[in-house]
Amino acid sequence: MKKYENDGHIIYQGDAVEILRSEINDDSIDLIFVDPPYNIGKRFSKFEDRWLSGVAYAEWAYTWIDECIRVLKQTGTMYLMTSTQAMPYFDLYIRNKLTVLSRIVWSYDSSGVQAKKYYGSMYEPILHCVKDSKSYIFNADEILVEAKTGSKRNLIDYRGEVPKHYNTTKVPGNVWNFPRVRYRMDEYEEHPSQKPQALLDRIIRASSNEGNTVLDPFSGTFTTAAVAKGLNRKTVSIESQEEYIKIGLRRVLGLKEHQGQKLSKPMKNTKVKNGRGVKREKITGYLFSVNS
Ligand SMILES: C[S@@+](CC[C@H](N)C(=O)[O-])C[C@H]1O[C@@H](n2cnc3c(N)ncnc32)[C@H](O)[C@@H]1O
Repeated sequence: MKKYENDGHIIYQGDAVEILRSEINDDSIDLIFVDPPYNIGKRFSKFEDRWLSGVAYAEWAYTWIDECIRVLKQTGTMYLMTSTQAMPYFDLYIRNKLTVLSRIVWSYDSSGVQAKKYYGSMYEPILHCVKDSKSYIFNADEILVEAKTGSKRNLIDYRGEVPKHYNTTKVPGNVWNFPRVRYRMDEYEEHPSQKPQALLDRIIRASSNEGNTVLDPFSGTFTTAAVAKGLNRKTVSIESQEEYIKIGLRRVLGLKEHQGQKLSKPMKNTKVKNGRGVKREKITGYLFSVNS
């Protein structure tokens, strides 16, 4: 296990379950965002995301779910993601231990070839859970979105003394549309499962306050901690893969170098042909190229 720390932000390199058990105190975390490997065969650097069965995967997940519940404050909130096929295991397990407030669908646009003999998967599920359904943070005003009623449709509310437009904002429902992170987006990092900053922005604003501590036990590109830091929260991040730890050291701790290697954003090269669009996109350097 390795630990890096700077100004209220901690990064652990190692196994999530071991680090949760040995390093994180009971009732110490305000908000947890968990985006684990999904057991769908992705390769995360040297780690292969494949268990022997769905049950074996769920049993592994229960160990860190229990640890997350232990470290969560009584007023704390946990958001939990996994694949559509594994989510029923998580849901049934967690509903006996926490209150599930919302079952969120992160819905996104398609890319590449879609299924032809069944309905292709266009969303990922997210459980929104709290320890105490009578005492938890939910900053509704921080995450309001445009309502499709009200002034847009010129509906007038005559119930008060002065007629006015209906409210034009509302708390979002449980279907969230955020584009997936694409190569050409500024936030892009080299990782097969990077989550969009916009998704984490909504979660962190809604379910924590400034100065609170946000934990992400499977940090990947450290989206959670990067967004939380920008929102003046403290962070604790865990990631097993050295390749991704370097992203965290740069993105969260602000390091420019690690073990003699420069830490820099992915170098992207795009060529536009005849002004009609992207002809070729390719990475010309390594994420942490010593030459960059
Ligand atoms: C789905 S990705 C997380 C992506 C992240 N939310 C983001 O926005 O970039 C899961 C991450 O868990 C890491 N991981 C896999 N097994 C782990 C373990 N036992 N302990 C800690 N991290 C692990 C993988 O290397 C991978 O980066």
